[in-house]
Amino acid sequence: MQVLVTGGAGYIGSHTCVQLLEQGHDVVVLDNYSNSKPSVLQRIGELAGRCVAAERGDVRDGAVLARVLTEHRVEAVLHFAGLKAVGESVTDPLRYYDHNVQGSLSVLRAMQQVGVPTLVFSSSATVYAPSEVMPLSESAALGPVNPYGRSKRMVEQVMEDVARAPNTTLSLCALRYFNPVGAHPSGRLGEDPQGIPNNLMPFVAQVAVGRRPTLQVFGNDYPTPDGTGVRDYLHVQDLAAGHVAALNWMHGRSGFHVFNLGTGQGQSVLQVLRAFEAACGRDLPHEVAARRDGDLAYYWADARKAREVLGWQAQLSLAQMCEDTWRWQSKNPQGYDDGEGTS
Ligand code: NAD
Ligand code: WQD
Repeated sequence: MQVLVTGGAGYIGSHTCVQLLEQGHDVVVLDNYSNSKPSVLQRIGELAGRCVAAERGDVRDGAVLARVLTEHRVEAVLHFAGLKAVGESVTDPLRYYDHNVQGSLSVLRAMQQVGVPTLVFSSSATVYAPSEVMPLSESAALGPVNPYGRSKRMVEQVMEDVARAPNTTLSLCALRYFNPVGAHPSGRLGEDPQGIPNNLMPFVAQVAVGRRPTLQVFGNDYPTPDGTGVRDYLHVQDLAAGHVAALNWMHGRSGFHVFNLGTGQGQSVLQVLRAFEAACGRDLPHEVAARRDGDLAYYWADARKAREVLGWQAQLSLAQMCEDTWRWQSKNPQGYDDGEGTS
């Protein structure tokens, strides 16, 4: 199949491109490189033994999208492009609604115009309402608590309406990711946050490589077994495989479908830290700090629907997530900023 991957130079998109190419699909990447580097595409080509076609552009630009869909005879779209920092979405909500909601409307409109039937959209577990009852299944109460989460939920609602419209030609799927971490086992692709990482795993990795002095553990008085926050960490390679499974399953189907992608298991901050210490072979400096505003104590996925319907299940352990992150971080201490032809 000819697949358009928006945001394909980014963290999750790049890993997914490799797997799409490996499975025989042809890939065109549309990215504006606002949070990635074009050199990532070379690495994707090296790993897969085959290149992606590259288009520089913004998903909010409908004319570019229509041209790319037509010229490359695209048959399905994986839509990763968007902004993802929760804190930034609170300080600059308009920018988030613009990239995430407007960008997705633009993708849907261009697909309808050109006649491309299948869309897989990057949603997030942040669309669920805070709850004390775990695990979170797809039918759990929805209620995002920040503009980022609301932007994801709004797109899901639009997709639902579009799929329900009479005579629609679109078949739509939203994948709600839990906490993606890890890197390609080659150490050539990984997460490369700009500035100080917001998320736990890249922060721990930067402490391990000596870029940050110490990890702050945000709260150790939560109602969890060791008092630290619990999340469902998922290897990015498993997540990429989930997209390929969703794409294959969607072929020839209609309607709007939603799936959680997670392992179904929660891990605490201290469990992640210990697993990372085992992976890098040394103790890592850390200190307990105040809780971070807006953090939930715990959440993890009910991952049964993806297993039963898509035949997809996460395979990789927390140890493998840490080992692959460490390989990526130690081989690329400054991320992609390595002079290999960056933008
Ligand atoms: P990323 O920032 O690494 O990748 C996003 C890519 O999209 C980047 O290459 C960026 O340059 C590009 N981009 C951003 N805005 C664009 C625009 N308007 N036009 C064209 N390109 C644009 O992020 P990621 O972690 O790979 O996340 C991919 C998707 O998954 C995002 O939609 C994100 O919201 C969603 N998601 C991520 C996580 C996570 O924890 N990483 C969790 C749940 C959902
Ligand atoms: C995990 C745990 C922190 C950093 C965020 C977004 C979510 C999704 C994924 C996109 C928590 C603790 C963290 C640190 C720490 N993204 N922590 N010290 O908050 O579950 O989810 O990323 O959809 O929308 O909100 O992930 O990795 O930031 O935090 O103690 O320096 O690690 O308190 O318990 P989170 P995270």
